[in-house]
Amino acid sequence: MVPPPKSKLGFWKCFLILLVISPTFSPSVMSKIDLRLVSKKKQMSQKVRKMFYHAYDNYMTYAFPHDELKPLSKSYTDSLSELGNLKLEHLPQNYNGSALTLIESLSSLVIMGNYTEFERAVHWLSENLTFDVDARISLFECNIRVLGGLVSAHILATDPTSRLVQGEYGNQLLTLAEDLGRRFLRAFDTPTGLPYAWINLKYGVMENETTETSTSGCGSLILEMGALSRLTGDPRFEAAALRAIRILWSMRSPLNLLGTTLDVVTGEWIEYSSGIGAGVDSFYEYLMKAHILFGAEEYWDMFHSAYLAVQKYFRHGAWYHEADMRSGTATYWQLTSLQAFWPGLQVLVGDIAAANVSHREFFHVWQKFGVLPERYLLDRDMLHPTEKYYALRPELAESTFYLYQATKDPWYLKVGESMVNSLNVFTKVEGGFASVKDVTNMKLEDHQHSFFLAETCKYLYLLYDDSFLAGKNYIFTTEGHPIPIRSDWHEKLPHAYTSSNWTSLKGSNHQSARASAMTMQVCPDTINSGGGEGHHVESACHIPDFRSNHRCADDEECGTDSISCRKRTCSVAGYCGLWLSIA
Ligand SMILES: *[C@@H]1O[C@H](CO)[C@@H](O)[C@H](O)[C@H]1NC(C)=O
Ligand SMILES: *[C@@H]1O[C@H](CO)[C@@H](O)[C@H](O)[C@H]1NC(C)=O
Ligand SMILES: *[C@@H]1O[C@H](CO)[C@@H](O)[C@H](O)[C@H]1NC(C)=O
Ligand SMILES: *[C@@H]1O[C@H](CO)[C@@H](O)[C@H](O)[C@H]1NC(C)=O
Ligand SMILES: *[C@@H]1O[C@H](CO)[C@@H](O)[C@H](O)[C@H]1NC(C)=O
Ligand SMILES: *[C@@H]1O[C@H](CO)[C@@H](O)[C@H](O)[C@H]1NC(C)=O
Repeated sequence: MVPPPKSKLGFWKCFLILLVISPTFSPSVMSKIDLRLVSKKKQMSQKVRKMFYHAYDNYMTYAFPHDELKPLSKSYTDSLSELGNLKLEHLPQNYNGSALTLIESLSSLVIMGNYTEFERAVHWLSENLTFDVDARISLFECNIRVLGGLVSAHILATDPTSRLVQGEYGNQLLTLAEDLGRRFLRAFDTPTGLPYAWINLKYGVMENETTETSTSGCGSLILEMGALSRLTGDPRFEAAALRAIRILWSMRSPLNLLGTTLDVVTGEWIEYSSGIGAGVDSFYEYLMKAHILFGAEEYWDMFHSAYLAVQKYFRHGAWYHEADMRSGTATYWQLTSLQAFWPGLQVLVGDIAAANVSHREFFHVWQKFGVLPERYLLDRDMLHPTEKYYALRPELAESTFYLYQATKDPWYLKVGESMVNSLNVFTKVEGGFASVKDVTNMKLEDHQHSFFLAETCKYLYLLYDDSFLAGKNYIFTTEGHPIPIRSDWHEKLPHAYTSSNWTSLKGSNHQSARASAMTMQVCPDTINSGGGEGHHVESACHIPDFRSNHRCADDEECGTDSISCRKRTCSVAGYCGLWLSIA
């Protein structure tokens, strides 16, 4: 039986509520504890702001307009063509960078309220950035960092409610993004429609280019390219990205599992083992987030099946190993730093308990080493012999932010504080923040990745100061660039859920003391039962073959494995991991 539309609507509220934050506090009703929390958050957000500017100012001084900062030697690297290029092949001869770290910083500047610097950056890029450069780049990396950075910044720059100067802005960032998007389209000219992993920005796909790509490389382009199509009216970007997703999904095994690498010409899998980490991660993320942004059922149907398969075949207790897509048998038992994004995605799905459990395990590993090592061998309980580094990655901070939004459990603020302290103690140097080369001796590497500014600092900042999110529904791309959920881009979004109508959705008795829209989720027994249809409560689990609608009962929530139900428990913030209908 198909779940009734009513359930789906309930599902909707969950992440809309997750994403809408109302920061209004009324001091008179706040207790001492609240005040302590507020001052602690303020102190922490200032600490994170300092980190961001230390990274940003050093980049601007020593590296701009090159791509990334080398913080130890106070110099630069034109690394766009090196991203994902493990063997450093076909490096350009005459390329002087694309101001990558500046592009990646745009949305963070707005989130931290620095409109003057944002405008200065927009002007510089408008006048000086060009993609007509002889550089071979990774389609995936360039999409999430550059196209995503530009599209998000364009939306922020044209937001009528923001304080950005609009008169002077003539859509230059969108023009740049469109130019880049057109260059991307050449990668999709393959017999399958799956894009090449590499293109030369000036000349297109190079002769004898490798036909190998990864699942995330060709399957997570839809947020940026979809937004680009909606903004420009040119449907080709979204169509190309969606077509690639559909082909990829058609290549799944009967177990609904995908591999990690494949051939874009033959459409055959190359690596049959996969997990939730490198090479696959953002494919899952983008199915879910595309459903949130564009509303199409198709994305949800794919995500739902894929999510079930992940929980069934990859999960072992709190951990996720890899498995062969054909048989479902476990292959590699490894924890990787990239996997730490998964609990954040589970928060969007509504599986808070499962998210909480594995987030805690990742944090234990962080505490054990001081930072999160790139790869840890779970079966042998030891670090991977060569991947002992910590590249300033954001995933654990990201999950911590989502879990705090969902639960308001102050424990997550402590997690963030511990991460902020580690970053300052181990990775801060005079010339910026440096990646850790080896977590066993904390030796540093001469590299400050652009995602440290786009994501790590941003999620840590939003953990303590979410005022940017007030009254708006955003999704964050896999590179941390915010894109608003707009009713005119959305197949389903009812008018009532657009931000300007948000106030009408609030329970009138919650007006003064709400810390976040999340806290308006109340436990079933506190719901005004006179509300009739307006207060229908349901949980949306994903129980296979369990009940006709694959859902738990009203007083239950998803179990840790998310494929069973358990009695509902509520967090201190009143968040119950439930999906509450308001309409
Ligand atoms: C890169 O910089 C070098 C040195 O300043 C210059 O000679 C070269 O023309 C520049 N290349 C491009 C493509 O701008
Ligand atoms: C914005 O950033 C610039 C460059 O770091 C800095 O000089 C300025 O003080 C910042 N302004 C605000 C309001 O934070
Ligand atoms: C563009 O770059 C040139 C050379 O770095 C610089 O002089 C100019 O001011 C830049 N344009 C803007 C708007 O910043
Ligand atoms: C492409 O491969 C063919 C056949 O191996 C070779 O003859 C040709 O030189 C290669 N082209 C380039 C640009 O490497
Ligand atoms: C998260 O896990 C901790 C430790 O098991 C537990 O005390 C807490 O209540 C959990 N929070 C949620 C929201 O599940
Ligand atoms: C707000 O909701 C009302 C009623 O649902 C609708 O008519 C109106 O267009 C909405 N406003 C916006 C800005 O979406």
